[in-house]
Amino acid sequence: MNNFEFKNPTKIIFGKNTIEKLKTEIPQDAKVLLLYGGGSIKKNGIYDQVKTALTNVNVIEFGGIPANPEYATLMEALKVIKDQNINYLLAVGGGSVIDGTKFLSAAAVYNGDTPWDILTKNIRTNKGMPFGTVLTLPATGSEMNSGAVITRAETKEKLAMGGPGLFPEFSILDPQVITSIPRRQLANGLTDAFTHVLEQYMTYPIGALLQDRFAESILQTLVEVAPSVLKDPTDYQAASNFMWSCTMALNGLIQKGVPTDWAVHAMGHELTALFGIDHARTLAVIAPSHYKFNFESKKEKLAQYGERIWNITEGNTEDKAYEAIAKTEAFFHELGIDTKLSNYTKEYEGTAEKISKRFTDRGWTALGEHQTLTPEKVEKIIKMAY
Ligand code: NZQ
Ligand code: ZN
Repeated sequence: MNNFEFKNPTKIIFGKNTIEKLKTEIPQDAKVLLLYGGGSIKKNGIYDQVKTALTNVNVIEFGGIPANPEYATLMEALKVIKDQNINYLLAVGGGSVIDGTKFLSAAAVYNGDTPWDILTKNIRTNKGMPFGTVLTLPATGSEMNSGAVITRAETKEKLAMGGPGLFPEFSILDPQVITSIPRRQLANGLTDAFTHVLEQYMTYPIGALLQDRFAESILQTLVEVAPSVLKDPTDYQAASNFMWSCTMALNGLIQKGVPTDWAVHAMGHELTALFGIDHARTLAVIAPSHYKFNFESKKEKLAQYGERIWNITEGNTEDKAYEAIAKTEAFFHELGIDTKLSNYTKEYEGTAEKISKRFTDRGWTALGEHQTLTPEKVEKIIKMAY
């Protein structure tokens, strides 16, 4: 097991009817900017619950943060923060609203030329403007981590940022919020969380028995509850297990002391930036090809995953590893998620070359758990995913 340090300061408030607890979490004298997305919270009652809980707090609102939070929109919100002397942010939404809020938390205290630098120059935020979240969509884990991914339509870029100052102070997780989520977004959430675990697990054995079993337990739980979540989002038991699994999949715990990959996400983000494909779906497109291409270096963990998650007992390590990739792809298909780029766009020719060049230009020449995934390899993997 590798050495590690672990600190996660986010307070989680989990369970039925917990949104009302906002009133005890937000400082009474705060000037709050309430941030939300395209308006789903106004239809499903979450907005009303939030407003009721904040009756005695000074709140200004900023809605309209789109999925894959857009830099230009966020710059408008930043102006509101400055003009209105906001000192506390509250994100009410899924990963996009929470990530957008993290960017604002960082940008509000940033003194450089342009906040875009935070993304292009890897500027880490050690202390941002304080913020909390009300999660409306289980998927990303953003509610309990310190990372964010921001999109800029103008340049068709999607870049990550983060830093220890960007953990939410608190996150309210009421699993009842999933009742209004469209099936497609539920399937996205299951797929995103599943792949988050794979990115931190599908590497090479390092004798971290507990971390392996943390990861496997999240995968098993997602596989077990997926049919119930999709069939009946009012099933509270399934909803609560789904929501907590998504948070646990990316709150930092399972990656401690083990190698991690994250190349599937790096490639996937480019597909969202270029074609607007939902984040989770880009992962389902890339992951099978990535695991086939890197088969030799990942086969031990693939086989272990095949045995423990998919109950594969026949054959040697290679057989089990191949079967495990097939089972993963079949799982995505069962969720209704297509796993080829050509299922999403007819304009895929040249994509692999374009992404490979972008990685070269950014100096991303050594991705993956062995830092051996070069732009040339990225090009091949993406071609396999056409
Ligand atoms: O905008 P509104 O109207 O709220 O609608 C949203 C949006 O259209 C809707 N929705 C959310 N909660 C709902 C609901 N509809 C009905 N009822 C509810 N309760 O769902 C749509 C998608 O929302 P979005 O926030 O975009 O989804 P998700 O949570 O999957 O977030 C995706 C973003 O997170 C980033 C992705 O790259 C993408 O930009 N990620 C963030 C990560 C992180 N910070 O750690 C890690 C991830 O790997 C990921 O990269
Ligand atoms: Zn993801």
